[in-house]
Amino acid sequence: MHIQLTVNDEFVTVEAPPDITLLDLLRDYLNLTGAKEGCAIGECGACAVIMDGRLVNSCLVLAPQADGSQVVTIEGVRADDGGPNDLQQNFIDYGGVQCGICIPGMIMAGEALLMQNAAPTREQIRLALAGNLCRCTGYQQIVDAIEATAKQRRGKQQ
Ligand code: FES
Ligand code: FES
Repeated sequence: MHIQLTVNDEFVTVEAPPDITLLDLLRDYLNLTGAKEGCAIGECGACAVIMDGRLVNSCLVLAPQADGSQVVTIEGVRADDGGPNDLQQNFIDYGGVQCGICIPGMIMAGEALLMQNAAPTREQIRLALAGNLCRCTGYQQIVDAIEATAKQRRGKQQ
């Protein structure tokens, strides 16, 4: 079937079977391999993308459900010069990245939170990351990175 959607501001039409997931559509048909398949059952958040402004686990979304939607993947998150954006840089600076498997999903969860809440508490950040598992970092540095980004972005708006 034809599936049409906008991915990272680019309108795409994909011919794909109706029973594949959005994650497979992104990875296997659009070559966007940043979203990872960790568990494939909605438990780990490694496949997280933003769809129509909401954080979703793309392993739980059937590709036809994404027809007509706006999707942002980790490949669509970057600074104007193509390098890491402020949140990604803070993940690096605060030591929030180790093996990296969870990081695309963590960044998407962080961006989704900051779109909705410019001044999250540490508790709210932890809650926003509740669906994203990290086996490496202990989460502290990831929370630090998101908190620092929120402060920096608020500072720029003043
Ligand atoms: S791969 Fe989708 S939540 Fe784990
Ligand atoms: S950095 Fe390894 S799972 Fe999070």
